[in-house]
Amino acid sequence: MRPSGFLMKTVACAMCSIAATALAQPTMDLGQREYESKCAVCHGTDGKGGGPYAEQLKRRLPDLTTLARSNGGVFPVSRTFDTIEGAGKGHGTRDMPVWGLDYTILATEALPELPYNQAVYVRKRITALVGYLSRLQVK
Ligand code: HEC
Repeated sequence: MRPSGFLMKTVACAMCSIAATALAQPTMDLGQREYESKCAVCHGTDGKGGGPYAEQLKRRLPDLTTLARSNGGVFPVSRTFDTIEGAGKGHGTRDMPVWGLDYTILATEALPELPYNQAVYVRKRITALVGYLSRLQVK
């Protein structure tokens, strides 16, 4: 017996509404999620430097919303990427960055047991962060 037209339409309709509901969900901003979990504690959720940990630091926190302005109006993409990947200064050492090894591209031979490409994964997370920071810039 062939499925009735009515049944087919009902199934199609249900699938459509599931798809519509999925599309209506706000998409998770990976960069924002990374920023809020690893950076905001010092730099503040707005990037201006007023995070809850700021007063514990000896260094004054830079305003991350003016990186473009102080670079002639161009957001310094590769410098920001390197700051995160390389750590250093207020971010701890490259071996022991304040955010752990989440943004450290390790030599793949050091991680033979990982079932995915660690370098690609780390680059993606840093790139998302850099993208998020670029959207925090003041004009
Ligand atoms: C423990 C506190 C702390 C955390 C956590 C932290 N930062 Fe920083 N950050 C600092 C301090 C202090 C400085 C300024 C001193 C320096 O240059 O290292 C700084 C400087 C920077 C700069 C350089 C700004 C400039 O003027 O060039 C960038 C970019 C930056 N942080 C991004 C981040 C990002 C992205 C994260 C999260 C992945 C993060 N920071 C997490 C303390 C922190």
